[in-house]
Amino acid sequence: MSTTTPTAVDTVSNRKKITTRVFQLKKEKAERITMLTAYDYPTAVALDRAGIDAILVGDSLGMVVLGYENTLPVTMEEMLHHSKAVARGAHFALKIGDMPFMSYQVSAQEAVRNAGRFLQEGGMDAVKLEGGRERLECVRLIVAAGIPVMGHIGLTPQSIHQLGGFRAQGKTAAAAQRLLEDAQALQEAGCFGLVLESVPARLATLISARLDIPTIGIGAGSGCDGQVLVTHDLLGWFDRGSPRFSKQYANLYQTMTQAVQTYIQEVQAAQFPALEHSTEINDEEWNELLHRLG
Ligand code: KIV
Repeated sequence: MSTTTPTAVDTVSNRKKITTRVFQLKKEKAERITMLTAYDYPTAVALDRAGIDAILVGDSLGMVVLGYENTLPVTMEEMLHHSKAVARGAHFALKIGDMPFMSYQVSAQEAVRNAGRFLQEGGMDAVKLEGGRERLECVRLIVAAGIPVMGHIGLTPQSIHQLGGFRAQGKTAAAAQRLLEDAQALQEAGCFGLVLESVPARLATLISARLDIPTIGIGAGSGCDGQVLVTHDLLGWFDRGSPRFSKQYANLYQTMTQAVQTYIQEVQAAQFPALEHSTEINDEEWNELLHRLG
């Protein structure tokens, strides 16, 4: 269970828990919202202490942590396992659990049940799901159950087989209009925010201006109300290439590989462990042992 309530305040830094209401206020004050993914406790601690507004336990888990080719094999049990770890590490960021493939597509009732598991078992504050007009009933019912929902349109990775791969969306006038209509319908259905993934920057800016709820862009230009990246892309923590729209701020993969190689060399050369990494038995006890052993 999360150890904070929506009104938690850090008495040292005076930092307050980010809620969906804070998201809305940030949009109204034109303050940019920051969001990153996390899938484990230490990453959640680092992001939370760094001051991130929202942590998404994304189903990108499947690709960057579990080694799947895409997000389709990710299950509810996997998402809950990682959500719990993140919830233990993050106390101030808004924690959003990403509903995996087939956890909300079969029926709205099943969607409500699974969304509820993210809050009840996973310690999340909200859920995210992919899709536009076809998801309205599902969004309405989850929201009616008291669970905040973030929408996600544009490139929706759970539909890659239908979209023909990881391709930018909304590049014709008709497709762009459809995305705008989807965004408005999701807002009407009760979403508190909306991820816009891989859509033209001008379209994302227009959608952001027309909506009252905040938009969070990824590969959607700088006109959104906030930005999200997959943390493994930002940190260079992944052996495969990252998307063109991502920015790499560090090279953890290289740092890790170098550290591991140095460890291997030091063990092989008997340089590690050194004296300061060892413990000793005192002379008196040692001599007693030798005496006992004859
Ligand atoms: O799963 C994920 O990480 C996401 C983000 C890319 C928005 O859905």
